[in-house]
Amino acid sequence: MRVLVTGGAGFIGANFVQQTVAERPDAVVTVLDALTYAGDRSSLDPVADRVELVQGSITDADLVDALVGASDVVVHFAAESHNDNSLADPSPFVQTNVVGTFTLLEAVRRHGVRFHHVSTDEVYGDLPLEGPEKFTPATPYNPSSPYSATKAGSDLLVRAWVRSFGVAATISNCSNNYGPYQHVEKFIPRQVTNLIDGTRPRLYGAGLNVRDWIHVADHNAAVWAVVDRGRIGETYLIGADGETSNLDVVRTLNELFGRDPDDFDHVSDRPGHDLRYAIDATRLRDELGWAPRFTDFRSGLAATVDWYRANEDWWRPHKAAVEAKYARTGQ
Ligand code: NAD
Ligand code: DAU
Repeated sequence: MRVLVTGGAGFIGANFVQQTVAERPDAVVTVLDALTYAGDRSSLDPVADRVELVQGSITDADLVDALVGASDVVVHFAAESHNDNSLADPSPFVQTNVVGTFTLLEAVRRHGVRFHHVSTDEVYGDLPLEGPEKFTPATPYNPSSPYSATKAGSDLLVRAWVRSFGVAATISNCSNNYGPYQHVEKFIPRQVTNLIDGTRPRLYGAGLNVRDWIHVADHNAAVWAVVDRGRIGETYLIGADGETSNLDVVRTLNELFGRDPDDFDHVSDRPGHDLRYAIDATRLRDELGWAPRFTDFRSGLAATVDWYRANEDWWRPHKAAVEAKYARTGQ
């Protein structure tokens, strides 16, 4: 099977490519990645001899057409992915997330190629802090940030291309991922690398916001379940019942570093900050038989801390620039 992975040099995409090479000897993997600030060629080093990396943009229609035409399936991870960046400058989010997805859809339509669109639970907006509600595939779209609005737009394009043009596509909407190769701009790697550097973790606002954490390997196993066995035109929500407040994440990280759990700084809150995400993954579990392997968040976090300790060469070049950017917004 010839698999085209967009965004395969980013966090989730690189883990997906490594997992695919390890578990699927029949897969011939090509990565299309623009190698923006968020993409890193070295994240594919462990599989460099098994994977072709094409540097280019998903908005480049000619390049996309050629690569899609030579594939059996496209798994689409490429995106601008960070909410804080989308507040500073939404423009690349519209280009990559909306125009880039449109460009891919037109190519898979022309070539009759199977398409899987990787998306986020943020398209549904947020939930009350306290309460039993969870996102389901029937939850109305209500995105809050420029990032989530462009992901919502891309999801709706996929649905329209299925209905109007008969494109063979599926969509998955996943909650917050953690694990190796995540950029240091994101919450968990930022705090882990702060702690390695002896700096206090930085919590937006009161830190009561809740995210539904899932290990990246579990997300990627679910993506393959959908690609292999998902119903065309269907949306699958991916989550592992990992709801945790940001405050509790920071406390746990401090404990893992042998520090006082409450030794952190409160910094400026994110404008429009979503309160809580929570996923009901019943369809994925019941229909496709998926279940997470990383069910103990604390030990998953401890393994992630170990990875960042052992791979300082990978993240160190980005750390100072990320912190300088946050300093400009008081975060
Ligand atoms: P990331 O920012 O780490 O990686 C994105 C990758 O896309 C990078 O390698 C980047 O170079 C590449 N890219 C950006 N613009 C491109 C373009 N125009 N053409 C080609 N490549 C381009 O993101 P991530 O966290 O790995 O997220 C991957 C996907 O999963 C995204 O679609 C995101 O919306 C979705 N998602 C992420 C999470 C999460 O917790 N990180 C959760 C649910 C869904
Ligand atoms: O829910 C899925 C989404 O999860 C994905 O679609 C996004 O691509 C991914 O970035 C992530 O979005 P979040 O905005 O939830 O992730 P982030 O890591 O930026 O922040 C997680 C929480 O931590 C959020 O409530 C903001 C807070 N935060 C973040 C940073 C960087 C802090 O308290 N301090 C920080 O320094």
